[in-house]
Amino acid sequence: MAPSLDVLVAAAERRYVEANPESRRLHDERARVMPGGNTRTVIHVPPFPLTIVHGEGARLTDADGHVYLDLLGEYTAGLYGHSHPVILQAIRDTLDDGMVFGAPNRHEAALAEALCARFPSLELVRFCNSGTEANLFALSLARVASGKPAIMVFEGSYHGGVFFFGTAAGSPINAPFPFVVAPYNDEETAARLIAAHAHELAAVLVEPLQGWAGAIPGERTFLAALREATAAHGVLLAFDEIMTSRLSTGGLQSAYGIAPDLTTLGKYLGGGLAFGAFGGRVELMSRFDPSRPDSLPHAGTFNNAVLTMAAGAAGLTRVYTDAEVQRLNGLGDRLRDRLNAFASREELPFLATGYGSLVGLHFARGPVRRLSDLPAAPELRTLLHLHLLERGYSYARRGFIALSLPLGEADVDGFAAAVEEFLDAHAEIVRAAVPQ
Ligand SMILES: Cc1ncc(COP(=O)(O)O)c(C=O)c1O
Repeated sequence: MAPSLDVLVAAAERRYVEANPESRRLHDERARVMPGGNTRTVIHVPPFPLTIVHGEGARLTDADGHVYLDLLGEYTAGLYGHSHPVILQAIRDTLDDGMVFGAPNRHEAALAEALCARFPSLELVRFCNSGTEANLFALSLARVASGKPAIMVFEGSYHGGVFFFGTAAGSPINAPFPFVVAPYNDEETAARLIAAHAHELAAVLVEPLQGWAGAIPGERTFLAALREATAAHGVLLAFDEIMTSRLSTGGLQSAYGIAPDLTTLGKYLGGGLAFGAFGGRVELMSRFDPSRPDSLPHAGTFNNAVLTMAAGAAGLTRVYTDAEVQRLNGLGDRLRDRLNAFASREELPFLATGYGSLVGLHFARGPVRRLSDLPAAPELRTLLHLHLLERGYSYARRGFIALSLPLGEADVDGFAAAVEEFLDAHAEIVRAAVPQ
């Protein structure tokens, strides 16, 4: 009789533990001084994650000397890979002039200009240190500008460590704003809730493609309905493009032709260093002009960190050109199309979701329009992840992939072949484990 799913998972976990003694030792060492050996929940996997000691191009080396092709791309922040010469040179050149000035520097205008030129709705922009902060500032601005307290978000959304709605109740450590939580890709319900809550809603905050939920694209009609309903009811519309800004030269807002009032940015736009930004219409953002008598304070020691400004500007103006955006999106389409064609030919409940260079891998029958369309399938996800690690591919166990610029067609083809090998070997188990 073929082994059951839990027997297969237990055997794969045993092989993982045996193959990674140094990662285990380093995990145990961290755990003596950090809760669970961790300072970033999303990178934990049981029994311990791999500790990475070196990165080059799109390759990572772990503490036990295994080399992986990196398909996670640091959850989109690693777009440039681990050693892009333009980024490294920008950082080295900038370092020579010093880096903690307590004053404006000559790199921040270049990055701000590049951002405003690319993202249509960004008339003015300000920098901060993370995507979480960008959303915190953008929403706080919306609350002050509108004089209303509440924010609408969507089930399955992740807008940062204090804005997480994996369930409708939200994370217990969410920022204490009043939230209205609506289903994603359901334009009628969203429009109805916007109308009903217009008196208290400062803004609607939406990812044009939900990343954490599983790389689920927002439908254009849904996003257009949000634009229409918010405009009709005097509510601001904020696009969280922290992951999606890479999906066209001007982000998904430009690809979809929808202009939000506020946009939040982060991840790779700092060249791989800690970064966040928020911006939008002049009349909103100019409230931060310190020369205005009614100006709002926006502080942050590292808001204009010299290395980040220089690396971000170099990447955006010299590396992530329109041609590279198209090429990288093409690689994602190639991977998604191949895996979906394979799964449908073999009649397997497996799906690759996403848009361009962001890909989600799921054990599901589809269609996938929101988080609740995805079975949790934790054992299958674990087994696939361990299978791919053993073959030298790393990505997030949840099934999240963010392609990076050093990757080419042969890389994604090799990865697709390794996924197909898994599906071939475990076809019966996969069919049985995914609900009809
Ligand atoms: C859509 C989205 N918004 C916000 C954030 C938070 O960004 P950061 O981790 O830089 O705080 C993330 C991070 O994954 C994200 O994916």
